[in-house]
Amino acid sequence: MAVRPVVVWPDDRLRQPSVAIGAIDASVRALYQDLVDSMYAENGLGIAALQLGDNRRMFIVEPRLAGRDETELPVAFINPEVIESSDEQQDSEEGCLSFPEIYIKVKRPLRTKVRAMGIDGVVFEIEGEGLLARCLLHELDHLSGKLLVDFVGPLKRTMIKKKLTKLKGAEAEDAEA
Ligand code: NI
Repeated sequence: MAVRPVVVWPDDRLRQPSVAIGAIDASVRALYQDLVDSMYAENGLGIAALQLGDNRRMFIVEPRLAGRDETELPVAFINPEVIESSDEQQDSEEGCLSFPEIYIKVKRPLRTKVRAMGIDGVVFEIEGEGLLARCLLHELDHLSGKLLVDFVGPLKRTMIKKKLTKLKGAEAEDAEA
């Protein structure tokens, strides 16, 4: 029930293998609430548990993007899997809460279908196109430790590392001031 700091790359916790969730118990519901609070605090469209340093297989997506009413809570995807993806691709810039101020062009399928369990324990399927497909596939990547920097070459990766390390240093100085 709290906003937790988002883990920023390069941090090894983003590369942990994630583990399947069994029953939806109080600790899973608490993790869901922390994801909701932390995503809204950062104005994100989605966030994976690994980004809070928790290696359980769950991510959430902002309700409007997931096709729900904006007054609803974010949609939880527990133990999600891709059922199918289109051959047709989309290619646009992508951001990530673990890469503040970084945007990278990523080619992804235009449409995808994902099956997951909701926070109510009910299994559901969702079909996404465009931004929703991009968001679902981005969050699924997180669960297997795949990150935005895996889509760029070594030179750009070094640049991003420098920028994020500098950003982290600036934040530490602000905190001390
Ligand atoms: Ni991300």
